[in-house]
Amino acid sequence: MTPLDYRQLFTDFKGTESDLIPILQKTQDRLGYISPEATKEISRFLKLSENQIFGVASFYSQFRFTPPGRNSIKICMGTACHVKGGQILCETVERNLGISPGQTTADQKFDFHRVACLGCCALAPVVQINDDIYSQINVTKLQEILKKYE
Ligand code: FES
Repeated sequence: MTPLDYRQLFTDFKGTESDLIPILQKTQDRLGYISPEATKEISRFLKLSENQIFGVASFYSQFRFTPPGRNSIKICMGTACHVKGGQILCETVERNLGISPGQTTADQKFDFHRVACLGCCALAPVVQINDDIYSQINVTKLQEILKKYE
């Protein structure tokens, strides 16, 4: 990944506090996440502390602070999926890959997130890996599916 040109990234912004969210979005679009270096640069540009930036960004689930994996696992924790075993599926991913929600495996193969409704509740519980949707998943099926992405 090429390093980010922060001067170019900030050109459309005045450097006010209200620029924070759009700058974070633009940064994540370019880098795939909000890196420690990006946080420092944004802090300098907006004259906000890194803690303030982290505080705001962590409020929004769209922002991530770890590099994305090559495969992105989303376990639906909306009501229908939660009732039908979403939590057990989360624990399966945690046990099998050794990561918690919001983390990426050390080999960068997978990242893992708990998400709200994926919009296909009748098929609960639902897991999304990259653009693929898997429905009516149980622990055994999930373990088999994960192997396909190894
Ligand atoms: S609650 Fe999981 S798809 Fe809607």
